[in-house]
Amino acid sequence: MSDRSKVFVTREIPAAGLDPVVAACDTDVWKDPLPPARDELLKRIAGCDGVLSLLTEKIDAEFMDAAGPQLKVISNFAVGFNNIDIDEAKRRGIRVGNTPDVLTDATADMAFALLISAARRIVESQDYVRAAKWKTWEPLGHIGVDLIGRTIGIVGMGRIGMAMAKRCHGGWGMNVLYHDMNQNKDAEAQFAARQVDFETLLAESDFVSVHTDLNETTKGLFNADAFGKMKSTAVFINSARGPIHHQPDLYTALSSGQIFAAGLDVTDPEPISMDDPLLSLPNCVIAPHVASATISSRNGMAEIAADNLLAGLSGKPLRCAVA
Ligand code: DGY
Repeated sequence: MSDRSKVFVTREIPAAGLDPVVAACDTDVWKDPLPPARDELLKRIAGCDGVLSLLTEKIDAEFMDAAGPQLKVISNFAVGFNNIDIDEAKRRGIRVGNTPDVLTDATADMAFALLISAARRIVESQDYVRAAKWKTWEPLGHIGVDLIGRTIGIVGMGRIGMAMAKRCHGGWGMNVLYHDMNQNKDAEAQFAARQVDFETLLAESDFVSVHTDLNETTKGLFNADAFGKMKSTAVFINSARGPIHHQPDLYTALSSGQIFAAGLDVTDPEPISMDDPLLSLPNCVIAPHVASATISSRNGMAEIAADNLLAGLSGKPLRCAVA
């Protein structure tokens, strides 16, 4: 019998992370691109010392029971960890790791790409060309909103919020407002950012970009009430987690002209239902949760996730620990 640790990797990840795990552990990798069904996941995790998971896996008490008392570490291949019951893991002494920093710039780039795409109606314009509707240069057609000197409102001024502020302030000379429980003195010094209450941010921002984590306070934060307080020319960006916006309320705000446009890298649920009326709106740009999808980010995430897993298995401190 092998004395190597037994681990389950819930999807193929870049070799930068998978190779060291396979070299060190008795490794079971879920090869299908779609996540394992719940009963399959619970079966595969039985007897494992560690798991390298994705944000698609719900890791709760039932999961930990199915694994067994030897489970030492959960290494999430994501910076977010709302898929994991952290309190339950702590109660059981299970270490939890995540993959911050390496995806900060890629995520802020995507948030900004969504901002400019929604503001300048880029996807809608491309659809217009492909549908053979482009007949002439139109003085009144395809009018979007300007970026220069406008106001960006950032909800959650952490690492990614800072990177977004840098782009908006440094590149487009935007005024930066932010809403966060904590004051961010670096953001204030570097980008002249001003910490404001949520209502002020909604009322004064031309662009509102979400960079907070999903928790009981932020779930449904962007609802009818919030959209109702935004400017009719405002653009809403969410590259954090889908449930932070209330999707039917977002549809109403966009379809009634209450706000100008939205750019989403995340939806609720994921994937978005093909019946979701948001998909029928030209002023809503939707990407399939790809903000961290660059070579260096995904390789970096894989390396950190592997380091976290192997450290947790050998009882060492995790490189990036959540618990
Ligand atoms: C994360 O890391 O939390 C992103 O949502 C996926 O990269």
